[in-house]
Amino acid sequence: MDLDIIQRDLRTLWHPCTQMRDHADDPPIAIRRGSGVWLEDVDGKRYLDAISSWWVNLFGHANPRINAAITEQLGQLEHVILAGFTHEPVVTLSERLSALAPAGLGHCFYASDGSSAVEIALKMSFHFWRNKGETRTRFISLANSYHGETLGALAVGDVALYKETYEPLLLRNITVPSPDAYLREPGESEAEVARRAIAALEQTLERHAREVCAVIVEPLVQCAGGMRMHDPVYLSLLRDACDRYHVHIIADEIAVGFGRTGTLFAC
Ligand SMILES: Cc1ncc(COP(=O)(O)O)c(C=O)c1O
Repeated sequence: MDLDIIQRDLRTLWHPCTQMRDHADDPPIAIRRGSGVWLEDVDGKRYLDAISSWWVNLFGHANPRINAAITEQLGQLEHVILAGFTHEPVVTLSERLSALAPAGLGHCFYASDGSSAVEIALKMSFHFWRNKGETRTRFISLANSYHGETLGALAVGDVALYKETYEPLLLRNITVPSPDAYLREPGESEAEVARRAIAALEQTLERHAREVCAVIVEPLVQCAGGMRMHDPVYLSLLRDACDRYHVHIIADEIAVGFGRTGTLFAC
């Protein structure tokens, strides 16, 4: 491995979600190029990118069709603010996304990353209730959930490793049991765990619905929480409960959307 790049890296970079001291014995791998599912380091050694670069890379590295489209667009217009301006690609993309989205979700709002998307969803939900003349300030989220690293997203997450240190800075969310199928009692089915989790959620909604903007959930799989899956019945029961108690659902499909669970959206 090219030691020069490692030394330069350690002198100048802090890596995300990383205890930098660990890199003293276990240096980062210096990647030179990627192609499809493969990454290649500076010595030519290949790695199968089995986590799809933290599950964001859906179409493979250096995908020729995507690269060609980006290159063509860069030559014409690399960026313009969407406040007060618009352009053909963003309108076409929004039309196509709206056509794919479930009925009733007819508009797009763009964020720069997953955490920002979660922040926006939390704010939109809060703002909806505010426009209705209601001040609701709480969010319900699931045990073991992960929604990102920014402060709002951390507040609705429940992975101690990421959250604990920043606890004094965070919104006071309400955490309810997860429908995680691993939590089955002996003889209990996955659907029964889901029903048990919904019963607990309903008790919480009974007490807090008027102060709650939304329930935020990672549909089907809690990814950063350890790839913990739940029975899909949880999602239909959640829809039903949230309709009855008049609170929003925020479906955080950052890790599961766009085909990653077999259908375009996980719920
Ligand atoms: C479910 C979920 N929500 C939000 C995020 C945050 O996304 P980002 O890292 O792009 O901010 C992640 C990241 O892994 C995620 O898995």
